[in-house]
Amino acid sequence: MVLTLVPLPSSVTADSGTFALSPATRIVIVDGADAAASALSDLLAQRAGLRPEVTSDAPVRGDIVVRATGASDEAYRLEVGERVELIGSPAGLFYGIQTLRQLLREDAGAWSIPRVSIFDAPRFAYRGVMLDVARTFFDVATVKAFIDRASSLKFNHLHLHLTDDQGWRLHIDSRPLLTEKASGTSVLGRPGGFYTKDDFREIIAYAAARHMVVVPEIDLPGHTHAIGLAYPEIVEVPVMNDMLLAQSESLGQPLPVAGEPYQGWGVGHSSVRIREESTWEFLRDVLREVAEITPGPYLHVGGDECLGTPQADFDAFVERITALTAEVGKTPVAWHEAGSAVVAEGTVGQFWGSDIPTDEHAEHARRFADRGGSVILSPSTRAYLDMKYTPEFPLGLSWAAVIDLETAYSWEPDTIVPGLDPSAVLGVEGPLWAETLETLDDIDQLFFPRAAALAEIAWSPASAKDWNSFRERVGALGEVWDGEGWGGHRPAEIDWSTP
Ligand code: ACM
Repeated sequence: MVLTLVPLPSSVTADSGTFALSPATRIVIVDGADAAASALSDLLAQRAGLRPEVTSDAPVRGDIVVRATGASDEAYRLEVGERVELIGSPAGLFYGIQTLRQLLREDAGAWSIPRVSIFDAPRFAYRGVMLDVARTFFDVATVKAFIDRASSLKFNHLHLHLTDDQGWRLHIDSRPLLTEKASGTSVLGRPGGFYTKDDFREIIAYAAARHMVVVPEIDLPGHTHAIGLAYPEIVEVPVMNDMLLAQSESLGQPLPVAGEPYQGWGVGHSSVRIREESTWEFLRDVLREVAEITPGPYLHVGGDECLGTPQADFDAFVERITALTAEVGKTPVAWHEAGSAVVAEGTVGQFWGSDIPTDEHAEHARRFADRGGSVILSPSTRAYLDMKYTPEFPLGLSWAAVIDLETAYSWEPDTIVPGLDPSAVLGVEGPLWAETLETLDDIDQLFFPRAAALAEIAWSPASAKDWNSFRERVGALGEVWDGEGWGGHRPAEIDWSTP
């Protein structure tokens, strides 16, 4: 029998037989595992139509026991036999419940769990996904739905790309014109929008309850055309680079015009005025406010695709913005280009080059480690969730690669950047850029099943990675995702019939 688990646990032994669920099944809380008991109860209600009694009585045969260890790691142990025992830290219990979500089986109306013995803990500390809410604005409900999906695959960081040329999506009290004047549109005439601080706190709390840390990104110094709709005095006029001109022509998209909303998706034309002190007053206010409402340790300050910015200005900017981020109490994160500069000590780099990097990209990525930081691997040819599955796929782009499921699965984070010590790899992240996305269903189409491939890279031991095993396991998850009402693409590489 195939245990339909993705990501594959560190250690799993299947026994014969099943644990039968019934209306008499109880959930027994031991040592304060209340949150996990409630999450498990919700899962059983939603998937199996059961609402088990939750109790602190002594456990008996047929019970599901959830036991909190009080540890602060992400590990759990799950034993399914005459009863079910789930033991772990708060995060570990949550991940154990996600494992149970994948193990639950229905046969002729009867629900059961195969007998297994699992010990599980993640490979990487940082397991991220990114949602671009700037190119297309997604409301709070959609972001929560995205968190549901990602956390079910044991991702633990949600990077929100909050600002770009097309819109500014987070209210800043000291700079109210950002959301008043620069949030109203998305790409191609789609509706805009923004999060109030209460909205943002709601997203953070929802993510935290699912053991995901929100990483806000204010993309700087480029990708800042929208700021000019609100505060024109701190942005440069658009630079018409060759890539932008070619892209606008081939897509039939308009070119950026200073002071007007930009609804195309060309890149590299915008920058804040790096040498103006009023720019730095603005940036100090923005970063301070974002840091104040962000409980997580990270604040992403962008740094990508500043195609019209002189190198010396860019480097000076990066040096100062990473120092400012540290000053407001956060660990800076920046796209790998920022490695050209002397980043603040401990800055985390996010590598988004090819899985066979240019010497320059690799050198930039290594610089973060040289400065006492670490690197998140998001090779755009493997981990970008917005690339098409096939050249004909209706959603997504293909500038980095066409990424089928096997391509998304078959790479190793430790060896992407030559000369980067594996101990400096903080983890991996799958960015989902939103140029071609309008709805949650569109998000699902690009997310499932490739996010499952990335989740296995992020979580499972490198030695366990096996495409044929993954193919078999992920095929059975189509039914689980359908059961949750999560859509997704079902590429022909996989047999999606239930084993
Ligand atoms: C990026 O894809 N511009 C980070």
